[in-house]
Amino acid sequence: MAELTTDRIPLIAGNWKMNLDHLQSIAFVQKLAWALKDARFDFSTVEVAVFPPFTDLRSVQSLIAGDKFELTFGAQDVSEHDSGAYTGEVSGAFLKALDCKFAIVGHSERRGHHAESSETVGSKAAAAIRHGLVPVICVGETAEDLETKGASAVPVEQLEIALAALPKSVEIVVAYEPVWAIGSGQAATPEQAEDVAGKLREVIGRSLGADTAKSTRVLYGGSVKSGNIASFMRQPNVDGALVGGASLVVDEFAKIARYQSHVGV
Ligand code: 13P
Repeated sequence: MAELTTDRIPLIAGNWKMNLDHLQSIAFVQKLAWALKDARFDFSTVEVAVFPPFTDLRSVQSLIAGDKFELTFGAQDVSEHDSGAYTGEVSGAFLKALDCKFAIVGHSERRGHHAESSETVGSKAAAAIRHGLVPVICVGETAEDLETKGASAVPVEQLEIALAALPKSVEIVVAYEPVWAIGSGQAATPEQAEDVAGKLREVIGRSLGADTAKSTRVLYGGSVKSGNIASFMRQPNVDGALVGGASLVVDEFAKIARYQSHVGV
């Protein structure tokens, strides 16, 4: 079995998508923090982050800062532009001013519904970095890609293009999310996640250097739940999870964050 220890602190990230308004976000984050505290959760061994809608971020920031919760948070997207006539866009500068640590870029729902190319995803990741945010760069193949090209070809190409826009020594997070596994209840096998995560780490090495490849957290996403998280976290190249549906249920998300208590089973 693979070594469980790594110098990359695992990241369990909850992408709320377009769910929970700002009042609901306060109740949710409070419950999550207390659930983890009750379980004597050690935040130095696993980072737990939430990704609420933009309109919740100020409330989440105030709550986390006020109550000194050890949770981190980020936005679900960021503009590739810094400011100006871009109606509806949100600048990385504004997100940084709200203490966001992360910004997701290139989620398949944005690539699909908003026709974002990998070049755009790279520009957004560069903008995030410019403003001191850590981009969570999402890549993944469709069911058709899987059938015709195998699992890794499309994610590898998407990441190569996105990383071309970035400086070398930089903190990024990469999330491998097979499109067919998102919201379907059918997760990839841990072996597939490991295989693609390893190939994505090689891309990071080629584009951004060996040190960045070694320090970058590569997450798996797609139908992650408390019952399968341990099998992913046993994989040496998988450093966490980007969780959708299961991140909206406090007890379930807390259980996923506490995977170390059931990773051995
Ligand atoms: P599910 O966990 O609901 O499959 O969603 C995954 C996802 O898209 C996270 O970004």
